[in-house]
Amino acid sequence: MLSYRHAFHAGNHADVLKHYVLSLVLAYMNQKPKPYWAIDTHAGAGMYALKSEFAQKNAEFENGIARLFAAKNLPDSLNDFIKLIKRFNENNTLNFYPGSPKIAESFLRQDDKLRLFELHPSDCKLLIENFSHKVRQTKIEMQDGFAGISACLPPPTKRAVVLIDPPYELKDDYSRVVDCIKNSLKRFETGTYLVWYPLLQRPEPAEMVHELIALNTDFLQLEIMVQAPSLDGYGMHGSGMLIVNPPYTLPKIFAETMPVLTQLLALDETADFLIKHKIT
Ligand SMILES: C[S@@+](CC[C@H](N)C(=O)[O-])C[C@H]1O[C@@H](n2cnc3c(N)ncnc32)[C@H](O)[C@@H]1O
Repeated sequence: MLSYRHAFHAGNHADVLKHYVLSLVLAYMNQKPKPYWAIDTHAGAGMYALKSEFAQKNAEFENGIARLFAAKNLPDSLNDFIKLIKRFNENNTLNFYPGSPKIAESFLRQDDKLRLFELHPSDCKLLIENFSHKVRQTKIEMQDGFAGISACLPPPTKRAVVLIDPPYELKDDYSRVVDCIKNSLKRFETGTYLVWYPLLQRPEPAEMVHELIALNTDFLQLEIMVQAPSLDGYGMHGSGMLIVNPPYTLPKIFAETMPVLTQLLALDETADFLIKHKIT
């Protein structure tokens, strides 16, 4: 039984980090004319109304995308990301936030393909509605994305970006991510795989990252801690992205933008970031 609904969290600090990184990777893919597949194993609904009851419940977007929306003099790549979000919002007013499928769609060229998996029936229905104009380029399946990805790899054009963004509602999501990356690398060694993870006061996220780095591929790890871990031991104090086979251009970009992004998303004075990579 799935209870997670991304609409409660749309546009929060974790979405900002995840979607900024995704947009940089897709922009890099677009530098070469050869088509690629963008695959999203946990797609969500695709688009979120920030005035909806869901998004308003904790108004998480106010400490996320709303801060960037209002910021001035951003470094170029963050500014490009905000320009992208502004395309979904009229009159410079923040009313909508695109999910990862819509972010990906905005980069697709005519021959690129989008493959989306979403298991929650209500969110899958919304996702299908949000992509009803793009049925030829996009395939949406109400299926377990960890399993469904196998049929997509290797993609016919031998170029792919895969986002793996589970809710980690179930503890075995962590080990399933590791298995999924292992199996996917066997099928398609040169794909770029992006794994989002929460920063929590429990061992599973760090153990998962440790296992992914031990696969000995090229990687880039990025984390933003927006606040000090809570005294009661619960809750998320930040999030991270582990990119397997990252574009070589990313470390330089993040060295410039992570201090700015961390400052913008900070919830207290302990906010900090981490960048670690091995790119051969
Ligand atoms: C964090 S949300 C995804 C957000 C989306 N990637 C974005 O960035 O806009 C995780 C989604 O995965 C869905 N989900 C959970 N387990 C799944 C599975 N095994 N396969 C596919 N979707 C799943 C949930 O219903 C939820 O919508």
